[in-house]
Amino acid sequence: MSRPVSPYLAPGFYDEALAKGRHRDIVGGRWDETGRIQMRMLADMGVTPADRFLDIGAGSLRLGCRLVPWLERGNYWATDASRALMLRGYEAELDDKTRLDPARLIEDAAFAFPGVPADIDVALAFAVFTHLPLGALETALASVKRSFPRLRMFLFTVFIAPDDQAADSFRQKDGVVTHPDRTPFHFRQAQVEALSNGAGFDLQLLADRLPRGQVLFRAATVSA
Ligand SMILES: C[S@@+](CC[C@H](N)C(=O)[O-])C[C@H]1O[C@@H](n2cnc3c(N)ncnc32)[C@H](O)[C@@H]1O
Repeated sequence: MSRPVSPYLAPGFYDEALAKGRHRDIVGGRWDETGRIQMRMLADMGVTPADRFLDIGAGSLRLGCRLVPWLERGNYWATDASRALMLRGYEAELDDKTRLDPARLIEDAAFAFPGVPADIDVALAFAVFTHLPLGALETALASVKRSFPRLRMFLFTVFIAPDDQAADSFRQKDGVVTHPDRTPFHFRQAQVEALSNGAGFDLQLLADRLPRGQVLFRAATVSA
């Protein structure tokens, strides 16, 4: 049987991992380190507690358990392919549950954002497109642009491979090997730029050194 392009698409993946209590491992582990890095990154990007924030592919709330108490009450929404995974994070990791209505944890594997309000200011997809083919990024960019007219920025991480090596597997600086056709995926920077510009965003590559060699992009709404 052929392997799915992403581990998250393997039948029973979430049920089995959650039954074993592995909600932290499912999102890549390095729980405290990565959560702290994400919080610092958001502050560096000028995100404030007053921003209305969408965490796309939020997993078990590795970021959410830090971000929810920091944001003003009612400013956090999250989507993920598995609501059960987000709910496990809610139960196990969020200290003050009164700060987040679990109805705001929305199952959505199609980047359609059902039930997310239109007045989101900042969206983030951290370590999501590293596990999905380029078409998923294209879908998400178009949908974010369409769904959130007042969005200030869409932050997302990907792996990049140099143009002349992108057709094959590529060893990232910290040793992770990425692939053009299976997870963890890499893209060419020009592809990411073309998709972002096509969706109506200005794209900026931020030189952050993130876990496992991912790079951070900021897609900002093109000003008229
Ligand atoms: C490596 S984890 C990162 C989770 C979270 N962003 C973090 O940094 O802690 C990738 C997440 O993407 C989610 N995911 C995978 N495919 C997805 C899709 N098509 N739509 C939404 N989420 C997806 C997985 O369920 C998983 O929670």
